[in-house]
Amino acid sequence: MNNRRILVTSALPYANGSIHLGHLVEYIQTDIWARFQKMCGHECIYVCADDAHGTPIMIRAQQEGISPEELIAKTKQEHEQDFADFHIAFDNFHSTHSDENKYFATSIFKALQNNGYISTNTVTDLFDPEEKVFLPDRFVRGTCPKCKAEDQYGDNCEVCGATYTPADLINPRSALSGAQPIQKENLHYFFKLSSLEDALKEWTQSGSLQPEIANKISEWFADGLQDWDISRDAPYFGFEIPDAPGKYFYVWLDAPIGYMASFKNYCDRTGVDFDSYWKPDSSAELYHFIGKDIAYFHTLFWPATLMGAGWRTPTSVFCHGFLTVNGQKMSKSRGTFIKARTYLNHLKPEYLRYYFAAKLNDGVSDIDLNLDDFQQRVNSDVVGKLVNIASRCAGFIYKKFAAELTDEFIAEGTQTFKTASEKNIEIKQLYEARKYSEAMRSIMALADLANQVIDQYKPWERIKDDANKQEVHQVCSFGLNMFRLLIGYLKPVMPELAEKSEAFLNCKISWSDLASAQALPSGHTINKFKPLITRIEKQVVDNMVEESKQQAAPKADDPIADEITFDDFAKLDLRVARIAKAEHVDGADKLLQLTLDLGEPTGGLQKNVFAGIKSAYDPKDLEGKLVVMVANLAARKMRFGLSEGMVLAASGEDSGLFVIHPDSGATPGMRVK
Ligand code: 2FM
Ligand code: ZN
Repeated sequence: MNNRRILVTSALPYANGSIHLGHLVEYIQTDIWARFQKMCGHECIYVCADDAHGTPIMIRAQQEGISPEELIAKTKQEHEQDFADFHIAFDNFHSTHSDENKYFATSIFKALQNNGYISTNTVTDLFDPEEKVFLPDRFVRGTCPKCKAEDQYGDNCEVCGATYTPADLINPRSALSGAQPIQKENLHYFFKLSSLEDALKEWTQSGSLQPEIANKISEWFADGLQDWDISRDAPYFGFEIPDAPGKYFYVWLDAPIGYMASFKNYCDRTGVDFDSYWKPDSSAELYHFIGKDIAYFHTLFWPATLMGAGWRTPTSVFCHGFLTVNGQKMSKSRGTFIKARTYLNHLKPEYLRYYFAAKLNDGVSDIDLNLDDFQQRVNSDVVGKLVNIASRCAGFIYKKFAAELTDEFIAEGTQTFKTASEKNIEIKQLYEARKYSEAMRSIMALADLANQVIDQYKPWERIKDDANKQEVHQVCSFGLNMFRLLIGYLKPVMPELAEKSEAFLNCKISWSDLASAQALPSGHTINKFKPLITRIEKQVVDNMVEESKQQAAPKADDPIADEITFDDFAKLDLRVARIAKAEHVDGADKLLQLTLDLGEPTGGLQKNVFAGIKSAYDPKDLEGKLVVMVANLAARKMRFGLSEGMVLAASGEDSGLFVIHPDSGATPGMRVK
């Protein structure tokens, strides 16, 4: 397939937060693929944008005391800089809050309406009787119905993680006026997804989706397609629905339309024909790279939106898994929730690009960034195997042979070079199929072969005898030609290393050069070798983790609570207790059941306590430990039984849980004052 025309996208990042390493899995995966396609000579256009609408963005702007427009402009600049510094080479990076997106969102909605896919229905929403507006879930605050934490959002609790509706909150309040919201009937717009069920089934089962995703979609079909609520009421940061004052498109309606909008913006800049990519009969290919968590939006809502409005559907949607760091969910307190900028403050982008490539494949399983393995793997593969080939050969060619190569190799060299060049077909297929980890393995196996041949001839020893001069020339020329080939194979992954290597080798590398099996001609001169990439030092990785930890340290947005009197404090009976038993609780996500022994001073009293510490502790590690408990707290009936007290633990927003232990020497039953 020559002259393919390919449009590629990555998911649009929300405009209210920084890019972190979890995001980068996807941008690096997509960027490698787009660079590979371009290197093969295809027209491949990679677009993205910030996802700028919705309530969280509005709230974030309010918190920062700026307008949503100011927030999204500031974030866009930050995102673009982060992406550029990770060598993510978008052809266009736009915003969903743009003229193009307004145009497409509006015209697509009108087309859906004209084609009979939009209905309206009344829904009971919460309403602020003072401000006279409907309240989005996030504009209602109150006490969590589960853990009783105060001042929680109307859709989920930041303390215990429970999700619920605003109607479930205890003592709900409007975040706008503080008034108690009332329930009121409200008109919503719906997209009748079920009307497109047959067409969607056909599209999703056409064989182009990953099997795991196709299976998931079958489950969604089996559950039945619900109509999709696509309207939200003012106050909302988004686009107003035509002929529906005060009603806005839900952010997820106009977000994927942002792919079209960004592409349109690109077309207007470059003269590429928009319709030839997006009309239903288009011969261009369209691929969306996304995380598996947003597959529903991209494999049902999005193709349905396109079908219903008369546009083409994606050729495929490529889902990837999540990133774990050191085998666990990224954590602010452990310093493993690493922002793109924090990483860049310490390490080169290409280390991570290589490591992710070495881990990524075409499936949806999660990938792990093990920081020790990261350091070792990059050092051993990129520095120890690949760049080593050049650093062992370059000096001799430069000094002893006037920087000139020969295209005659020692016998083993000719064979190895041929084998390595023939591998281009397999490596190409692996890139195309997004099986990058196999491609990296294949490339590094070739680097091993090159090093073996060089080891066998030991140019650093043979050069001492003039009789071997020609042989040394042939070995080192072989080495540098191998280096050129392997750097070419790695070019989509490590573009900066490739660029520096091209400057050193004095030649550009395209995929057709790799496939030609041609060595650089005799007499081709190279430039002086300068170190191309350095090793990763463990200390540098540790420093990056430390900087991330510091970012999680408490900030001034967690102020000290209202003052209490000494008498208030004296009411608390805090005691040292020994954890006699710690067990999992069937069906509880957060809780452990603790039997606390209060020892002799209390006459051997034992208390049963349910503590929300499961995420941080294994019960068997707790047994026998001393803790501090509130011993006179009134017992509370919980779903799993009676809880007769509370264990003290430190916790911060998403920064882990730390049970408080008394210093050694304390014994059960002692008062804590
Ligand atoms: O999940 C997210 O981060 C969304 N902002 C992705 C949107 S992708 C596309 F649909 F716009
Ligand atoms: Zn809660």
